[in-house]
Amino acid sequence: MPYLLGIDIGTSGTKTLLVDVEGRKIASATVEYPLHTPHPMWAEQDPGDWWQAVVMGVRHVLAEAKIDAGQIAGIGLSGQMHGSVFLDAENQVIRPAILWCDQRTAEQCEWITRRATEKVVHEETLNPVLTGFTAPKIVWLQQKEPAAWAKVKKILLPKDYIRFMLTGEFATEVSDASGTSLLNVRKRQWSEPMMQACSVTADMLPKVYESPEISGKISTGAASLTGLKEGTPVVGGGGDQAAGAVGNGIVEEGIASCSVGTSGVLFAHMKKPNTDTLLRTHTFCAAVPGEWHVMGVQLSSGGSLRWYRDAIGDTEKAVAKQMHVDPYQLLTHEATAAPAGCEGLIFLPYLTGERCPHPDPYARGVFFGLTLRHDKAHLVRAVLEGVAYGLRDSLEIFSEMGVTPTQIRLSGGGARSSVWRQIQADIFNRECVTINIDEGPAFGVALLAGVGAGLYPSVPAACAQTIQVVDRTAPDAAHAAVYARYYPIFRKLYDDLKDDFKAVAKAYEATMA
Ligand code: XUL
Repeated sequence: MPYLLGIDIGTSGTKTLLVDVEGRKIASATVEYPLHTPHPMWAEQDPGDWWQAVVMGVRHVLAEAKIDAGQIAGIGLSGQMHGSVFLDAENQVIRPAILWCDQRTAEQCEWITRRATEKVVHEETLNPVLTGFTAPKIVWLQQKEPAAWAKVKKILLPKDYIRFMLTGEFATEVSDASGTSLLNVRKRQWSEPMMQACSVTADMLPKVYESPEISGKISTGAASLTGLKEGTPVVGGGGDQAAGAVGNGIVEEGIASCSVGTSGVLFAHMKKPNTDTLLRTHTFCAAVPGEWHVMGVQLSSGGSLRWYRDAIGDTEKAVAKQMHVDPYQLLTHEATAAPAGCEGLIFLPYLTGERCPHPDPYARGVFFGLTLRHDKAHLVRAVLEGVAYGLRDSLEIFSEMGVTPTQIRLSGGGARSSVWRQIQADIFNRECVTINIDEGPAFGVALLAGVGAGLYPSVPAACAQTIQVVDRTAPDAAHAAVYARYYPIFRKLYDDLKDDFKAVAKAYEATMA
C-alpha cells in the first residue's frame, strides 16, 4: 500500500502528515518553534528550527505509523509564504529569515516600485510590492545590512530551504514564487525586469517547477537523519494558501474557500490570470499546472479572537480550564447572547495592520459604536462579525472581477465553531460548507506528491478521490438583511479613519523615541 507524506512549515510550527491514497490520515506530528520580534513589527525565525522540526516530525510520524519508509511514494512541501532565507557560499544560513508578517519594509516597497515602475511591477507580478513579500526583504538587506548581503549566494523561501536540506536541490514552484515580487506570474518564470530592479541575479534564485512536478529526491544524508528512504521523490508542493486550496478541493471555478488561522484568506480558483483593476487582492499561480488563483489575505482573523481571549477573556479562560474545554468554545457560545449586527457595534480587525483590501501597515483595530447597552457578548460577537466583514471585502472584489463562487468551503478555526460558521454564511450571504478533511496545507501537498508519483492522474482527480462535503450552513435571510445594512458602514470606516491610523502610529513612535 503506497503512502504520501505532506510537510507544512507553518509560522507557529511544522506539521508532518502521512496519508494513504484514499486521503485517510495514518499519522501526524506538529513540532512548534518560536517567532522572534527583535523590534516592534519585525518577525523572524531561525531556519535551523524549521529543519529540526522536520527531522523530529518525520521521525515521529514514521514511528507512529510503523510503516516501511520505502512505502512512501512521494513527499510534498508546503510552508508560510514570502519569507526570506539567505545562504552563503557554503550554503549556511546568513541571518534569521524575515517572515511574511514582518512590516519593516514599507520604504523598500516604494523604492522597488519607483525603480521598476508601477507599470512593470503590475504587468510582471500582477500584484503591488507589499511589505509581506520577499523582494522588499532582499532590498532591505542590501540597504540595511550590506555586509550580510555581500555574502548572499542563494535566496530561498521557507519550504524551499527544507527542500534543499532534504534533497540538496535549489528549487521552488510557481505558487510560492508568485509571492516574491520576482516572478512573472503570467508566464510562470522569474522576471528579468524585477530581478534587475532588485539587483538579484538569476543564479541566486532556485529553479521554478509546477507544483506536482518532481523537484528532487531524498539524499543519503537526509535519509539517515529522518528515517526516510533515500531516493524518495519530493514534488514542488505549494505556498500554504495554494496547498491549502488543494487540500480543500478548490481546484476548479465556482467554489471558494475561507480559511481562518492567525490570518484569514478568501481564495478562489481561476483558469486565467485575472486581476482586480486596483490590485487589492493577489493573483498568484495555482498549484494546478497552468492555472491561477485570486486571494484576499486578512492579517488578523483568528488572531483577533486570540487577542480578545488573551486581553479580555480572562474569565472565560479560567472557566474553560476548570471545565476542560477550549476557551474559544466558551467565547463563541457567549457570542450567541448578542443579536446579529451587535446592536450597532462594529469591530475593525486591523490589529497588525492590514493587507487586503487595504495594504496598510498603520491600520489598527477599532470597536466602533459602543453604548452602555453593549456587554461582553456583544464585544466577542463583534470580533467574529468584524473578521467576516473584512473577508467579505475580498469576496466583493472577486465579484467585481467576475469571480462569483456559489459555495464557500470553510476551514481552520473559523470552521470549527457553528456560531462562526453561521456568521460567515450570513455575512457572505452564500452557502458555507465544511469537508471531511481538516488537515490544511500538509494534506494538499500530500495529494500533489501523489500526482507527481503517478498515483492520481491530475490535481482535480486527487481531490475528487479524497474530498467530500460533510456539513452545510445556509445563510439566514433575516440575519443577512441585518448585515447588509451594517456592511457598508464597516467598509466606510477604514476610509474615514485611514489618516487617523497613521497619525496615531506616528504619535506613538514619537512618544517612544
Ligand atoms: C499568504 C500569506 C500567509 C503566509 C503565512 O500570502 O502571507 O498565508 O503564507 O501563512
